[in-house]
Amino acid sequence: MCGIIGYTGKETALPLILGGLERLEYRGYDSAGVALIEGNKLVVEKQVGKIRELVKSLWGKPYKGKTGIGHTRWATHGEPSTENAHPHTDEKEEFAVVHNGIVENYLELRKELQKQGVKFRSATDTEVIAHLIARSYRGDLLDAVLEVVNKLKGAFAFAVITVHEPNRVIGVKQGSPLVVGIGEGENFLASDIPAILPYTRKVITLGDGEIADITPEGVNIYDFEGNPITKDITLVPWDIISAEKSGFKHFMLKEIYEQPKAVGDTIRGLISGEEELPFSLKEFRRILVIACGTSYHAGLIGKFWIEKYSGVPTEVVYASEFRYGDFPVSEEDLILAISQSGETIDTKFAVNYAKEKGAKTLAIVNVVGSSIDRESDYTLHTHAGPEIGVAATKTFTAQLTALYYLASSSHPQREKLTSELMKVPSKIETLLDKSEEIESLAQKFMKKRDFLYLGRYLSYPIALEGALKLKEISYIHAEGYPAGEMKHGPIALIDENMPVVVIAPQDRVYEKTLSNIEEVKTRKGIVISVGFEGDQKLEKLSDYFLKVPPLEEDLTPFLTVVPLQLLAYHIASKLGLDVDQPRNLAKTVTVE
Ligand code: M6R
Repeated sequence: MCGIIGYTGKETALPLILGGLERLEYRGYDSAGVALIEGNKLVVEKQVGKIRELVKSLWGKPYKGKTGIGHTRWATHGEPSTENAHPHTDEKEEFAVVHNGIVENYLELRKELQKQGVKFRSATDTEVIAHLIARSYRGDLLDAVLEVVNKLKGAFAFAVITVHEPNRVIGVKQGSPLVVGIGEGENFLASDIPAILPYTRKVITLGDGEIADITPEGVNIYDFEGNPITKDITLVPWDIISAEKSGFKHFMLKEIYEQPKAVGDTIRGLISGEEELPFSLKEFRRILVIACGTSYHAGLIGKFWIEKYSGVPTEVVYASEFRYGDFPVSEEDLILAISQSGETIDTKFAVNYAKEKGAKTLAIVNVVGSSIDRESDYTLHTHAGPEIGVAATKTFTAQLTALYYLASSSHPQREKLTSELMKVPSKIETLLDKSEEIESLAQKFMKKRDFLYLGRYLSYPIALEGALKLKEISYIHAEGYPAGEMKHGPIALIDENMPVVVIAPQDRVYEKTLSNIEEVKTRKGIVISVGFEGDQKLEKLSDYFLKVPPLEEDLTPFLTVVPLQLLAYHIASKLGLDVDQPRNLAKTVTVE
C-alpha cells in the first residue's frame, strides 16, 4: 500500500506529482506529501488526510522545481500525522525519501543511528533510509543507495532525491511495485501505471532487487550490486480515459458498468490462444486455490467449476492462512493464485512457498508485469483494464471468466462451454439496462445496521461477496452465509428489522433455497431476493425481488453478483460516503 511517484524533466514538477498522487490515492489516503528541489534547497510539504488537503495547503506557493517526489500514505508504522507523513529527510534536509512497504529491521537500524547521535523526527521505518543514505553519500547518489539497500530487510519500494544532484531521482524495488515511465526530456517513477498515464504509455516494470536511476535525459537500471541491467520497454495498452470516471459519479459505478466489456475482453484474450497452458488440470492430484478478499470468493466459485469439469479435488484457502499453516504441498499439486493487483503480499508469499515445495504455480491476475504475474510459472490474464475503486467489481467477473475458461479447458465439450460463456457479456448488459429499481431499494434500506446474505452452492460465494461489498463501502454490518446453515445459528438474528438478501436462481438448489426463504418469512425477516426474471414463485415469496436474465445454471454467478454490487454502491453513495476510497482500506494490500 502507499503510493509513490517521482519526476525529473522539463516541466514544473509539482502539478505532475499532485496529479499522479490523485491517481494513486486508491493505494492509501491517511496523509500525503511532496519534496521538491527548489534551486539549491529541498522543500518538503505534508498534510494529514487526503491529497486534496495537501493541494489546498499548496495554493499560491510559487514552487517551480523540475525534480520532485510525492507520496500518499496508508499507515503501518506510526499513526497518521504530519510528522509521520512522507517524504522523510535526513537531519540537514538534503535528502528526501518516499517509501512503500515495510523495512523489517528498521528498529535495529534506528538504534544504531541513534547511538551515532541521529535525532529522529518520526515513528516511521522510512526515516532510517533517509539518514542512512545521507551518511553514505560521497558525491554520487547511486553509490549511496547501493550501500544502503543491502542493509535493508523486508518488502519495500522507495524513491530518493538530493539537493546535491538536482536532476536525478533514484528508485528502488524490493517486494513492492515500482514502474518507470519513459517520456521525452522527462522521466517518471510510480507505484502504479495510472499515475503516469497522462504523460506516457511507455513503461519499464522493475523487478525485485532492481534500482532505476532516472534523469531528464535517460534511465539506467542496475541490480543491488550495481551491475547494469537491460530491460524491455512495454507499451501500456490502456489510455487515460480507461483510468478516468467518464461521467460516472464514482469509479466503482463506472467499473460495474464496464463488466460486459471486462468479461468480453477476457474471453477474447483467453481464446486468442496466446496463453494456452501446456498442461491439463487432470494431471494434478489436487488444486489449491490461494487468494484474498473478493479474489477468494471468485476462487470458491472456481472450485465448483474445476471439480465439475475436471474432477480434480480442489481446495480454496485464504493466502494469509495458507502461509502459516502446515499445508502439505508437493510436485503433484497445482497452486492457483488469484489476485487482481498481482501484488497482494500474502498471495505472493504463498506462490513463492509453493514453488519452493516443487508445486506448479498458475496465476490469474489483471495487472500485467505485477509480482505474482512474474513469479508464477504460468499466468492467465484478465483484461478488465485498470480498476481504481477500492471495491473489486469488474475484476471479479473477469476472474470468474478466466476460472470458467480454465475449468472447462480439460472437458471434452470445451467448445460448447466456451460458447455458453460468450453469452455472458450481453446478459450483464441487459441486466444493467434494467436496474433502476435498485436505487430506490437502497433508499429504503440505507439506514439499516445489519444485513444477512444467503445462498447455496454457486450462490453461497455470491452471498459472501455481496456482504463484503456492502460492509467495505457502507460500513454496515453484513454477513454472508450458506442458506442451509442458517438454522444452525444465524436464524436467531432474524426479526422484522433484519433485511435478508437471498440469491435464488433456478438451479439445482432452487427449491431448497425457497424453503430457506419460507423460514426467514416465518420469523418476519424482510426478504430481498435475486432470481430469474419471470420467476413468479420467488417474486411472490419475497418482499423485494431483483431480477436477472435467466442463464444456464453454472454461469449464474456472473449475473447474480451485479445487483448486489449495485445495492452496496447505491447505499454507500446515498449515505454520502467515499465510495471509491472507503476508510481504513487500500486497493493493493502489500503488507501482511
Ligand atoms: O489484488 P487482489 O485481488 O489480490 O486483492 C485482494 C483483496 O484485497 C481485494 O479483493 C479486496 O478484498 C477488495 N477490496 C474487495 O472489494
